[in-house]
Amino acid sequence: MAAARGLLWVVCLLRVALATVYFQEEFLDGERWRNRWVPSTNDSQFGHFRLSSGKFYGHKEKDKGLQTTQNGRFYAISARFKPFSNKGKTLVIQYTVKHEQKMDCGGGYVKVFPSDVDQKNLNGKSQYYIMFGPDICGFDIKKIHVILYFKNQYHSNKKSIRCKVDAFTHLYTLILRPDLTYDVKVDGQSIESGSIEYDWHLTSLKKMEKSSAESKDWDQATDSKTQDWEKHFLDASASKPSDWNSELDGDWSGPMLQKPPYQDGLKPEGIDKDVWLHQKMRNTNYLTEYDLSEFENIGAIGLELWQVRSGTIFDNFLITDDEEYAENFGKATWGETKGPEREMDAIQAKEEIRKALEEEEEEELLAGKFNARQNFFNQFHRQDEL
Ligand SMILES: *[C@@H]1O[C@H](CO)[C@@H](O)[C@H](O)[C@H]1NC(C)=O
Repeated sequence: MAAARGLLWVVCLLRVALATVYFQEEFLDGERWRNRWVPSTNDSQFGHFRLSSGKFYGHKEKDKGLQTTQNGRFYAISARFKPFSNKGKTLVIQYTVKHEQKMDCGGGYVKVFPSDVDQKNLNGKSQYYIMFGPDICGFDIKKIHVILYFKNQYHSNKKSIRCKVDAFTHLYTLILRPDLTYDVKVDGQSIESGSIEYDWHLTSLKKMEKSSAESKDWDQATDSKTQDWEKHFLDASASKPSDWNSELDGDWSGPMLQKPPYQDGLKPEGIDKDVWLHQKMRNTNYLTEYDLSEFENIGAIGLELWQVRSGTIFDNFLITDDEEYAENFGKATWGETKGPEREMDAIQAKEEIRKALEEEEEEELLAGKFNARQNFFNQFHRQDEL
């Protein structure tokens, strides 16, 4: 028993030891963050950040993060780390964000940049690899962006993912895996996941690559039969996205069904199912190698956004290759803050109501005194008139 537990410990330690943390920022060393974060001077009107845990928090010091301080401004700031490639590895991007000002319109997302980004000149046109996080504007926009840069173009997630709109700290996590699956988590819970290929409609890009690398031992006749057969695997219920551009994106076809319709008794005609499967596997291998979420030279993370009403706090940034490490880091940061933060907010709200009531009473009291004097005055006058 003890031995088993000991072994478990070793395994745990090994796991932690295996995690690569590319970047981690909790703003725990006072004003020294200014040595790590570079504000852009591209526009003298860019808003300023300060370190703050806000009006309510779980822990006054630990919950300090970068807070936007000026209304109606663009913001641009970034921090560097040792460049790396996520090729063949999981990539986790995580941070916390708190819109304690009750966000009306503004960005709460992060951007991950290639290492050659010009930090001092960072602006809306600076090319990034990944944009991830909430964006709120009025009643219409309450979404989590996941934008991937691929083949010189930005690709937005086609599934819409809703973000949190309240005033509390929330934990946002994006996981991109080398098997081309992804996960978007809010507060540690997965709220969207699936295939990077389908959920960004990148299938056509892959097809382009496929046709240029067509195999020779797969003759044309078989190929057309295969295509007929493959049609059964397409999701007929899917509709063409409204922003599909045939010129850019190629001919649209529905995404592949996750479960092929074998149960309908469908049989491939004129082709050898094994050969088809073999070919399919080969393509799959080939396509997986051709990674849709592979970034060669990841080297900076930044906030480049617009806010109408300021006050958002960004904290607990993490970039790692280890999902479990990220989960534990989330628990140790957001997990510790969420409860006490809400308690403090509730106490403050009660206090505000008490004060408002007191003020109201005071006003009534004053108004009462005034009325009394008025009455006395009237009486006096009336007496005088008599
Ligand atoms: C801001 O950045 C743009 C694009 O990188 C550049 O053309 C422009 O000169 C920069 N402006 C300043 C004031 O540095």
